[in-house]
Amino acid sequence: MIRSKIISTGSFLPSKVLSNAELSTMVDTSDEWITERTGIKERRIADVNKTTSDLAYEASKKALKNAGLKASDISLIIVATISGDMPFPATACLVQKKLNAKNAAAFDVNAACSGFIYALSIADSFIRSGVHKKILVIGTEILSRFTDWKDRSTCVLFGDGAGAVLLEGHKGKSGILSTHLYSDGNLWDLIQIPAGGSLKPASLDTVNNRLHTISMKGNETFKFAVKTLGSLVDKTLEHNKLSPSQLTLLIPHQANHRIIQAVASRIGLSMDKVMMNIQKCGNTSAASIPIALDDANRAGKIKKGDYILLEAFGGGLTWASALIRW
Ligand code: ACO
Repeated sequence: MIRSKIISTGSFLPSKVLSNAELSTMVDTSDEWITERTGIKERRIADVNKTTSDLAYEASKKALKNAGLKASDISLIIVATISGDMPFPATACLVQKKLNAKNAAAFDVNAACSGFIYALSIADSFIRSGVHKKILVIGTEILSRFTDWKDRSTCVLFGDGAGAVLLEGHKGKSGILSTHLYSDGNLWDLIQIPAGGSLKPASLDTVNNRLHTISMKGNETFKFAVKTLGSLVDKTLEHNKLSPSQLTLLIPHQANHRIIQAVASRIGLSMDKVMMNIQKCGNTSAASIPIALDDANRAGKIKKGDYILLEAFGGGLTWASALIRW
């Protein structure tokens, strides 16, 4: 039986740091409120001359180097993002060009914060079916370009960054054991960028009304996330006949430390088994899980044979999980 194994990880964070203290000079907020309500202390902001594909390129170069592979070894690039360089072409094609991955097909996936797990699931299917042997899966975002810096309820949350993994088919016990993808389009308006698509094409009106930035019904989203992620984690463990105590690490989407703690406490997992980097990254949507995975990997928190659970929740609405044996 062929399984898809994550053979390397890589990530990239822009060097510019935006602290809670600086944000407090821009909108009516405070370090205390942001820390207590979200767990975020700072977030990274991309240089003005950098694009979402540039961040993806940097993360991918590290993943390739860590795997000892050349870009020409990859036959598919999947990029999960909601803040691509432009509506089209796909950001994945721009990454393919920058890497000179001349043998790779490339496309984007839009499932907001669940995007990386959606992309991982697609890549896993391609590998298990034998269609592709080596796939680069990336989550990358420059959310700071789509943030309303006058809206204190959203501008304190988001950050920029990218993470990448290389997947390879192999026969053995390690690899992606299962993925679980869900959506409910009835709740599409909880998190959205209202304009810039066919519904509301860009116009003077949409610009003047600041409709090209993220708008979110935060509290409704919060309640739905806590309820949904709890049962998602239960189902994922049940599917693999595992108990929470067998998990080495839970790597959740980094949206809010209270959501993360609620999920961990529901399954009785102590917080030292939960990967958290929200304090330094904020919510980087599709990039959040691969950045956290790379942080955990580089910190030596994951060893061969360990069970790792990834889970995410975001716009769409979408939610998703993956169980990995490292
Ligand atoms: N500073 C100070 N006060 C604030 C701020 C701020 N930055 N933002 C909101 N407030 C105020 C509100 O105005 C409100 O004041 P009021 O009671 O006088 O009306 C009060 O704080 C409480 O506001 P809530 O929105 O109810 O606060 P909540 O506890 O829900 O926290 C938050 C808000 C952090 C956004 C939370 O709801 C959350 O994390 N939601 C989920 C986000 C998420 O997971 N999104 C999915 C991924 S995003 C994606 O897919 C792109």
